[in-house]
Amino acid sequence: MAGGAIVSTGPIKNYNGGMTAFVFITCVVAATGGLIFGYDLGISGGVTSMNEFLKKFFPSVYKRMNDDSIKQSQYCKFDSQLLTSFTSCLYLAALVASFFASAVTRIFGRKISMLIGGTVFLVGSIINGIASNVLMLIIGRLLLGVGVGFANQSVPVYLSEMAPAKVRGALNMGFQLAITIGILVANLVNYGTAQMKKNGWRWSLAIAAVPAVIMSVGSVLLPDTPNSLLERGHMEKAKSMLEKIRGTSEVDEEFQDLMDASQQSKMVEHPWRNITQPRYRPQLVMAILIPFFQQLTGINAIMFYAPVLFKTLGFGDNASLMSAVITGLVNVFATFVSIFTVDKYGRRFLFLEGGIQMIVCQILVGTLIGLKFGTTGEGSMSKGYSDLVLILICVYVAAFAWSWGPLGWLVPSEIFPLEIRSAGQAINVSVNMFFTFIIAQIFLNLLCHMKFGLFLFFAAWEIVMTIFIYFFLPETKNVPIEEMNRVWKQHWFWGKYIPDDAVAGGIQLSAGKSVA
Ligand code: BGC
Repeated sequence: MAGGAIVSTGPIKNYNGGMTAFVFITCVVAATGGLIFGYDLGISGGVTSMNEFLKKFFPSVYKRMNDDSIKQSQYCKFDSQLLTSFTSCLYLAALVASFFASAVTRIFGRKISMLIGGTVFLVGSIINGIASNVLMLIIGRLLLGVGVGFANQSVPVYLSEMAPAKVRGALNMGFQLAITIGILVANLVNYGTAQMKKNGWRWSLAIAAVPAVIMSVGSVLLPDTPNSLLERGHMEKAKSMLEKIRGTSEVDEEFQDLMDASQQSKMVEHPWRNITQPRYRPQLVMAILIPFFQQLTGINAIMFYAPVLFKTLGFGDNASLMSAVITGLVNVFATFVSIFTVDKYGRRFLFLEGGIQMIVCQILVGTLIGLKFGTTGEGSMSKGYSDLVLILICVYVAAFAWSWGPLGWLVPSEIFPLEIRSAGQAINVSVNMFFTFIIAQIFLNLLCHMKFGLFLFFAAWEIVMTIFIYFFLPETKNVPIEEMNRVWKQHWFWGKYIPDDAVAGGIQLSAGKSVA
């Protein structure tokens, strides 16, 4: 095949074969991996606002929240490090797990990672459901985190590898759709269990077992991706799998490119050291900055603490849980906008439009809250006023749901060449988890200290990320995944990092080596 010195900047390839029913079903099953993540994101806010749960596990917090003799500002009512650590510890476990998951995904394949993710998560949800002390709660949460780490590592990569390039964006977004459905289901479950006299929180936590079972069973039934089969040396199987998923036997060109990429990746002994080479600089920067920016949109302030936030805004208990259901619904439906447009209008358009919409909403929300509560946090909102804030939050959630939400997972998963794919995805997942952890841990504290300024703080970050995308992210729609280097090579800034030999035949060649 291509020698190290061949430079080809020809047109992006268009492989044979399109979307098949087989790929579609496979991806639907795999995307349920997003359900377990979403369920976690959505469940803890409601659970930690349930009195029975607080009384049992965090009595001091319960006392403080209900003690009217303590004069507290609206902004600080719910600030408790202990309580937020219940929410956040999961994401630390996911962070650590994603590094193990990276090795498992590469050596044993994407399926095994999904299976491990599903089963560990299942055990965690059972322990949480029967928890009788804080230790059990935390152990359960940590196991859930391990499950999330494995799922988030393997599912997006699986989806990107299975999908034909033309619809890769839409298929990959099945993952984000599953996340949003998970969040919505969690919000609905909380709304239901909060009405129960006893043990509502137990049900909320234990129902996480349902998506875990779907994912575990699903992963056993799923086929491996051709890329992963090749990576593990099964050439024949890889070829027939590619024919099967593309629905045609004319897959020679795509298969050849997969083989080149795979051979190339085998020559790389140290994916971790490798990813720090200058030639992978654009991918490395994106693997770090995209998840970082995604969390700095402030979305999880809403996802984790919507019920608490709405209570702060003066909604009653039920109305707060209901408002969380409303934002959850908006989140799901707006994701479809992205699914239907991402491969047509491209990633950049959605990033930029969504970014601007979020900036406007956050500035308005910050200003409205500031006007009512000022810096002292005293005062209240009329119904019309708080409804307006709710509507703006919904418009903000919609913007996130068709931009940074799905694209935050899609773009990193499609830009890594095979030889650094697992390592790159691990960085993506761990940075995401790290900042999810940070936001979960400090949001209520930040709200207490920065007050309405917190929303302006997020708006400022949104301005930075929108400018970043405008200048630094090239369009990747419809580009076959093993051909991505051409895109970087043509970019005004990143082009200089990509050696000429790296675009030969669309594959990445290690410095000084050529594939014979
Ligand atoms: C993010 C989560 C967020 C969710 C909201 C995901 O893409 O990674 O942190 O809670 O979107 O839908």
